Amino acid sequence: MIKKGIILSGGMGTRMSPLTKAVNKQLLPIYDKPLIFYPLSILMLAKIKDILIIVNKGQLNQYKKILPDGKRLGINIAFKEQESPKGLPDAFILGEKFIKNQNVALILGDNFFYGQYLTQKLIDCTKMKKGATVLLHKVSKPELYGVAKINKKNKITLIKEKPKKKFSDLAITGLYFFDSKVVEYSKKLKPSKRNELEITDLLKIYMKKKALKADFIGRGGAWLDTGSIEDFYKTSAFVSAIENRQGFKIACLEEISLLNGWISKKNILEAISFYGKCEYSQYLNKLINT
Ligand code: TTP
Repeated sequence: MIKKGIILSGGMGTRMSPLTKAVNKQLLPIYDKPLIFYPLSILMLAKIKDILIIVNKGQLNQYKKILPDGKRLGINIAFKEQESPKGLPDAFILGEKFIKNQNVALILGDNFFYGQYLTQKLIDCTKMKKGATVLLHKVSKPELYGVAKINKKNKITLIKEKPKKKFSDLAITGLYFFDSKVVEYSKKLKPSKRNELEITDLLKIYMKKKALKADFIGRGGAWLDTGSIEDFYKTSAFVSAIENRQGFKIACLEEISLLNGWISKKNILEAISFYGKCEYSQYLNKLINT
């Protein structure tokens, strides 16, 4: 079972400047909550309770205001600062002590997942023992993403970053499951032309060992990358449409914890006094009074 997860929540957020000049992208709102709630909720739905959030140097205090340590949520949250955005595999180098030779999940702080059967899918992925698993999703513009080709056994046989010539429409999403070898492999990587360690290079190491498996969110699910302003607002609109139509919240962390049996009514009351008088608190109040 994978019991540990890392959220990579730093980055420059260049495409969203000037919004990201003073505030980290993951602390900006996707509709009614900070973006970081969404990837955190995904790890919690996967029943992962031990979480490391990697943030930019100097931004720890901002994060601690909204996510102090996880106790209120019945989970453990540790933080680590990243000196500069050295690339996604840097998460495993920074997280070596946290990982402690165990298998680990990685989710990018700006990735949004939603859909039917997603929780079961996530739990299935955490059962992985050896190798690596990535979640793929069909996209109409594969040229914008890291793309993978698979064989009949759902093993990945080819990976290309932003391919000019189309060979598959399966994009590699920002949710990965790795065995404990990931630290050793990440340390071996060399920076690319853009001077970053590349996740595709890391995945290729697993692929060459025939140990890179694909899983799928499926057509009933949504995967949105919130990297550009346009995508950011589209994701907000998506959350707003679903929440207002159906009356439940996406990524309400306390609700997930309560359903997982990690916290009690008392913790929800604490959360309400922490957030103060707001619509989110009203929702929490309804959870314990219906
Ligand atoms: P990117 O989208 O590659 O980078 P970014 O978010 O800084 O945006 P931009 O390209 O506009 O500058 O990063 C994907 C996610 O991973 C995002 O949530 C930031 C995070 N990240 C880190 O925390 N550290 C890193 O070294 C990198 C490369 C990304």
